[in-house]
Amino acid sequence: MGRAFVYVILGGGVAAGYAALEFTRRGVSHGELCIISEESVAPYERPALSKGFLLPEDRASLPSFHTCVGANEERLTPKWYKEQGIELVLGTRVKSADVRRKTLLTAAGETISYKILIVATGARALKLEEFGVSGSDAENVCYLRDLADANRLVDVMQSCPGGNAVVIGGGYIGMECAASLVINKINVTMVFPEEHCMARLFTPKIASYYEDYYQSKGVKFIKGTVLSSFNIDSTGKVTAVNLRDGSQLPADMVVVGIGIRPNTSLFEGQLTLEKGGIKVNGKLQSSNSSVYAVGDVAAFPVKLFGETRRLEHVDSARKSARHAVHAIMEPEKTGEFDYLPFFYSRVFTMSWQFYGDAAGEVVHYGDFSGGRFGAYCVSKGHLVGSFLEGGTKEEYEAIANATRLKPAIEDLGELERQGLSFALTV
Ligand code: FDA
Ligand code: NAD
Repeated sequence: MGRAFVYVILGGGVAAGYAALEFTRRGVSHGELCIISEESVAPYERPALSKGFLLPEDRASLPSFHTCVGANEERLTPKWYKEQGIELVLGTRVKSADVRRKTLLTAAGETISYKILIVATGARALKLEEFGVSGSDAENVCYLRDLADANRLVDVMQSCPGGNAVVIGGGYIGMECAASLVINKINVTMVFPEEHCMARLFTPKIASYYEDYYQSKGVKFIKGTVLSSFNIDSTGKVTAVNLRDGSQLPADMVVVGIGIRPNTSLFEGQLTLEKGGIKVNGKLQSSNSSVYAVGDVAAFPVKLFGETRRLEHVDSARKSARHAVHAIMEPEKTGEFDYLPFFYSRVFTMSWQFYGDAAGEVVHYGDFSGGRFGAYCVSKGHLVGSFLEGGTKEEYEAIANATRLKPAIEDLGELERQGLSFALTV
């Protein structure tokens, strides 16, 4: 039993949606392309799950956030895939892959073969068990990676109005979920091991701006420690969180955001891996020339930094997917992927953007009390990264352009004095 396609996209997330749109633009024929996804819905904009999807009123719901609505392009509903002749194989997990034979075996026992495979399997949330703590399967412990998780989070949140939530992790999920919980009138305590929130990207000064704002909204921070165990009652619900520093926090619900691992296991021993992902070249092609990898699972050369990186952000998923499809459909016209890393977040009424690399020395500028500030990262005498809080579209474009140019910086004091006008005039 089996089906054969010219192109198969394995995974039905953000990258899959953008790749599908690009295939149709480049002229894929009916019946040539198939998307296999473990999720039961067509590709959607995952970032909505920690933002609009968690709002108490006017909650975002499908089909409103199917890809590619986040990039102001066509919204690809299941009907669209049907009209384009793209086979959507949903609710189907691929359990093994054979890149030599060019086949995938689904959990239902079907063999699907391809000429070209795009691996877009994304990542899975790390579990507390991987850090030696048990209790992840308790009824009111929530993770957030897919729509099923988000539906569960909403149900749990609605089951304890005015209750206490403990948010484990001070990264993206922790910060965005904490804000959404507050908007839902839940009392939030955040617990994380670092000295400040968003330790991978924020400087202590930027983090303190965010933490002060969160505290003004009632959020409590417990830093420099991790949880050691849960108290679980006879109904299977967590009632309290015990921390390694000996303290105990009462909890009606727990949200865990402690990082991810790329879904590479199907290809271990078959494709070259690097930085936890599938290593690809500037055409997003893996060590097997019939297999491409895009999005969170791909480790690709970032030309600007002369280094292979694996990025866990939506813009990189969108653009790497498009580039891979260009490279597949028009190989002779497609150059190397030249990507400027871009991260952003929105919480409460605040938002920031960051371009480039969070490396080297940092220069802050602007008005930290008024919420209009930024920072530059300077490494080896060049601007390599730019952060801006509360910018306009033009200002964000300016910091992106300035970072891409990697201008030489001789005087950090002068850069600090010029602040945003440096990026606007470079
Ligand atoms: P993605 O995870 O989107 O999709 C992977 C797909 O593969 C899933 O459908 C999965 O089920 C499927 N799959 C995996 N293994 C499979 C198998 N064996 N068989 C079948 N299917 C399989 N980024 C950002 O820049 N700004 C933001 O605001 C946010 N916000 C945000 C919120 C939340 C809640 C999350 C979880 C993530 C974000 N992100 C983000 C990150 C962003 O969503 C992420 O980088 C992209 O979704 C990556 O896209 P991919 O297509 O690579 O993976
Ligand atoms: P993350 O890597 O951003 O943060 C992980 C956090 O886990 C760390 O900041 C740390 O505080 C904490 N941590 C690590 N080990 C811990 C331990 N043993 N106990 C307690 N805390 C521990 O990962 P995340 O927040 O889980 O986000 C998951 C993925 O979703 C990431 O790929 C992220 O890029 C993506 N995401 C991105 C956005 C965005 O770009 N705006 C929004 C949401 C999610």
